[in-house]
Amino acid sequence: MRKILITGGAGFIGSHVVRLFVNKYPDYHIFNLDKLTYAGNLFNLKDIEHKPNYHFIKADIVDGELMQQLFETHKFDSVIHLAAESHVDRSISNPMEFVMTNIIGTVNLLNAARHHWQQDYKGKLFYHVSTDEVYGSLGDTGLFTETTAYDPHSPYSASKASSDHLVRSYHDTFGLPVIISNCSNNYGPNQFPEKLIPLFINNIRHNKPLPVYGKGENVRDWLYVVDHAQAIDVIFHEGKIRETYNIGGHNEWKNIDLIKVICKVMDEKLGRPQGKSEQLITFVKDRAGHDLRYAIDSGKLQRELGWIPSLQFEQGIRLTVDWYLQNQTWLDEVTSGNYLKYYEEQYDKR
Ligand code: NAD
Ligand code: DAU
Repeated sequence: MRKILITGGAGFIGSHVVRLFVNKYPDYHIFNLDKLTYAGNLFNLKDIEHKPNYHFIKADIVDGELMQQLFETHKFDSVIHLAAESHVDRSISNPMEFVMTNIIGTVNLLNAARHHWQQDYKGKLFYHVSTDEVYGSLGDTGLFTETTAYDPHSPYSASKASSDHLVRSYHDTFGLPVIISNCSNNYGPNQFPEKLIPLFINNIRHNKPLPVYGKGENVRDWLYVVDHAQAIDVIFHEGKIRETYNIGGHNEWKNIDLIKVICKVMDEKLGRPQGKSEQLITFVKDRAGHDLRYAIDSGKLQRELGWIPSLQFEQGIRLTVDWYLQNQTWLDEVTSGNYLKYYEEQYDKR
């Protein structure tokens, strides 16, 4: 019987990974460890919280002693590490939070795993979930591969790059069995509405301006979150130790074009005249250090482990819009309180 520690399981991607593992592997014990920051929400897991193989631990990965104790108590045999501060704009206003959670928190988990597994690494795995942002920014052509040199530009991506290096160093120095995956932009249900797609869906709903950074010419490669969770499942079970796997959607969109698609689908769903939501588009000051283009070559994952995305973007974006419109209480709850303060600070100055 496996005992898997999944960190950050109350967040956007983590909740989809926890759900997949709890439902698909009833014989595994899944321990979801989460601090429940503004981004963590146990409502994301309502449908599985009573399953006998699901366990929740409220804890902060920055507390190294606590991580050691939890390994001792629960005897985890593997880790899927997703807990992180994940929003680039917040990393620009408060880099230290990112250093603490993304770097120190990761080292605490590596130390706890190393110490508890005591060099008996058979059947053990530390799987670190990372981002394509560590590779920096592309020009008009080319794709990130697993051998692209790291070149992070934001405190967020620099903290993730640092954590990736530390994870590899624990393999090379101590023999810890590790795997890393680097994924492109995710979208789908349960994403906190500070990120582009849910933020714009929510703003259109309330007839609020859609703040497009710069000229809207930056390009992102979008992947439906359930496809990312499925890739993590495949890599966790079949990936090779010390390997890196890039995960992406082969689905590049210029921000402004993507925003127009969201506007169109929202007009349709809300029964508004076509073109109405586009009138909300407002060009605002660009993000500092804004990477121009991300695009992933996920050929290795396809060739070696047979993973490909299951969903076309046209389907994915409609499913996503439907989810947010059908879960307006979820949206209203996460956008009350502190969120409003964040939103004012972030956007009023632009
Ligand atoms: P998220 O912000 O939605 O969720 C992060 C979760 O981590 C939250 O539940 C939060 O409560 C928890 N957390 C934060 N600090 C913690 C701490 N100190 N101790 C314990 N728990 C803590 O993030 P997400 O978008 O789901 O991203 C998950 C992971 O995937 C991150 O590591 C991120 O870098 C990576 N990633 C995200 C994307 C994306 O598009 N969102 C793409 C590639 C990789
Ligand atoms: O590439 C993977 C990364 O994708 C993850 O590692 C990060 O955790 C995740 O947040 C995401 O980072 P981005 O910065 O690409 O995502 P975000 O949704 O913040 O922005 C997407 C694009 O939209 C980016 O070019 C900035 C732009 N944008 C964003 C916001 C919030 C706007 O134009 N206006 C906005 O209000």
